[in-house]
Amino acid sequence: MNAAAFETIFEKQPEVVGFAPGRVNLIGEHTDYNGGHVFPCALQMGITCAAARRTDGTLRFVSENFCSTGIVEYALADLSPQGVWADYPVGVIRAFAAYGYPLEHGADFYFSGDLPDGAGLSSSAALEVVTGTVLRDLFSLPVTKQEIALIGQFAENRFIGVNCGIMDQFASAMGKSGCAILLHAGTLAYEYAPLGSAALVIVNSGVKHSLAASAYNDRRRECEAACSALRVSTLCALTPEEFERNRHLISDPVCRKRAKHVIYENRRALDGAAALRRGDLAAFGALMNASHASLRDDYEVSCAELDFLAETAQKIDGVYGARMTGGGFGGCTVNLMEPAAVERFVTTMQAAYAERFGFVPEIYPITAADGARSERV
Ligand code: GLA
Repeated sequence: MNAAAFETIFEKQPEVVGFAPGRVNLIGEHTDYNGGHVFPCALQMGITCAAARRTDGTLRFVSENFCSTGIVEYALADLSPQGVWADYPVGVIRAFAAYGYPLEHGADFYFSGDLPDGAGLSSSAALEVVTGTVLRDLFSLPVTKQEIALIGQFAENRFIGVNCGIMDQFASAMGKSGCAILLHAGTLAYEYAPLGSAALVIVNSGVKHSLAASAYNDRRRECEAACSALRVSTLCALTPEEFERNRHLISDPVCRKRAKHVIYENRRALDGAAALRRGDLAAFGALMNASHASLRDDYEVSCAELDFLAETAQKIDGVYGARMTGGGFGGCTVNLMEPAAVERFVTTMQAAYAERFGFVPEIYPITAADGARSERV
């Protein structure tokens, strides 16, 4: 389908078609840029890209999801941002150049996807990782999937201006069917953890988060201030016990709360992965609930809609745990439950949310999926 749309628009066949998924994080929020652990899985929803090289130095981009922008064009010689969605793939092209892989020719790209935009399911990371995957194949670049994730993060940090960590791009590039990834963001050491038979359901609050809005970068600065006060290079170098002994060193109460969240959340991610390993879903769920409370009270990245969704879900029979997922300020909750509870969960959540906020939220039952892939056409 993507290849056909590409052909209609660019009047030639694509050479490569790639796909990169979005992600949902089960636990370990705002720990990645603090050298801690995260526990995401890749989704089946994601972004597809069909592409072909050109012989000149022009880059052309079309997105089914942003039809109004039509064909967006850049010259390889001038990759300055144009304030449109295509700045993301162009950021990846600039990042490849920074990593020592400048493109010698232009190319044409057609994107389409089924990830809700601005819902905290990493549509930007999927866009970056699918671009990287397709570029690797088009230009035969010797990059690994992990490097594609790092290049995507570099593009977002340097060229989009969001100082994000590595979690989203890593999950999109490295996801594995049926598994979550326990990733230590400081070293990129990771292991896959089978999710077993429990059901995972995402609820979209419909509140569009905007990561670039300064709050995310503010949190990073507050964490850095806490690091200096604690005289550590990264917050997750400390255990919760060490933090308790040293918390008085942070004089600013806001920075102290931020550090507390990060350090305890890192422990929760490790404990959560261990609970899953021994099949203790009740323990995993309790950690999810504690994570939500900490994000709401100490990290202050939740909102009324997410709090309502998490609290309502936590009271439903058969639900192990519920929490906001991703950067926050809107977006989605992730909910872990017995498979038999899914139907009851969906109807209860739809009715409760509609009564409180006036519309029925989108709900996606999900299964953990594989990461980015591509094929020659
Ligand atoms: C966003 C960022 C990630 C991570 C999460 C919060 O999704 O892109 O790197 O920091 O927020 O856990």
